[in-house]
Formats: sequence, C-alpha cells, structure tokens
Amino acid sequence: MIMKNWKRACISRLISKSLLKNKAGFCLALFLSACMNNAPPPTASHLQYAEAHGYKTTLADLQEGRELVLRKCEGCHSLYRFKKGSPEKWPAIMDSMSIQAKLTPRQDTLIRTYLIVVSGHLRDSLTAAKAMKAQKTP
Ligand code: HEC
Repeated sequence: MIMKNWKRACISRLISKSLLKNKAGFCLALFLSACMNNAPPPTASHLQYAEAHGYKTTLADLQEGRELVLRKCEGCHSLYRFKKGSPEKWPAIMDSMSIQAKLTPRQDTLIRTYLIVVSGHLRDSLTAAKAMKAQKTP
C-alpha cells in the first residue's frame, strides 16, 4: 500500500513536470514566431526598454516607426529579414536601406529608433526567458 502511493505520487509528479516543460516550450515557440517574423506593435514595455537604454522616444513615435516600416520596407523584401537586426547592427543596415527606401530624415529616425528598440527588447526578453528556464531545470 505504501509502495503504491509512492509510485502514484512519483508518476503524477513526472507527468506534471513534463507538462510544465512542454507548456513553457510551447509558449516560447509562440512568442518567438510572433515576434521574429514581423514588426511587433510597440507596447509600454518597449517604451520602458527605450527609457532604460537612453533612447528618446514616445509610444506614438514608436507606433509611427512601425507603420513606416510596414509601408516603406516591406515592398522590396519580407520582414523575415528583420531577424538579422540588433541594436548594434541596425544603424549600419539602415544607412543603406534608408537610401533604398528614399526616407526623409524624420522617417529615417523614426524607423531606426523603432527597429533598435524592438530588437533590443526582444533580445532582453529572450535572455530573461532562457535564464528562467535554466533556473527551473534542476
Ligand atoms: C528598393 C528596395 C528596398 C527597400 C525599399 C528596402 N530594402 Fe532592405 N534590402 C534590399 C536589398 C536589394 C537587400 C539585399 C542587399 C543587401 O543585403 O544589401 C536588402 C537587405 C536588407 C536587409 C539584410 C541586410 C543584411 O545585412 O543582410 C535588411 C535587414 C533590410 N534590407 C532592411 C530594410 C529596412 C528596415 C527597410 C526600410 C527602411 C528596407 N530594407 C527597405 C532592398 C530594399
């Protein structure tokens, strides 16, 4: 009888553990596919990232930057390419793409800031998610 209870407890623990793992993996996959392949709408959390890293912007500016990306950049290639961006890489990419897209200086600034903030925010979120996952694994 004692043996049986112990076994049952062990099995239910195993099941709930693997469910939890799959759920976390599933959420991460959803999160990744939602953020990597398109231009995510800016949120308060993006604005927080911008402030913490010294980028002067507003939610309205970030929103305008996103709209400009969709309008000005997607014509030539899909936003799939945006996976390549990071706060360090975007300035150089934008130097050449700004010419391709014939941006005004104002449009250039809005798009740059949006892309830098979104890519940096995404990188931070992924790092945090990884750290959380590492903590959970015994
Ligand atoms: C007139 C067409 C055109 C427009 C508009 C355009 N691009 Fe491009 N883009 C290209 C071409 C062609 C390449 C491939 C050549 C290259 O890598 O330089 C490219 C490459 C890229 C790459 C990959 C760079 C790399 O290092 O591999 C990124 C990222 C990118 N574009 C982002 C943007 C963004 C952001 C905008 C809007 C501001 C934009 N593009 C607008 C034509 C365009």
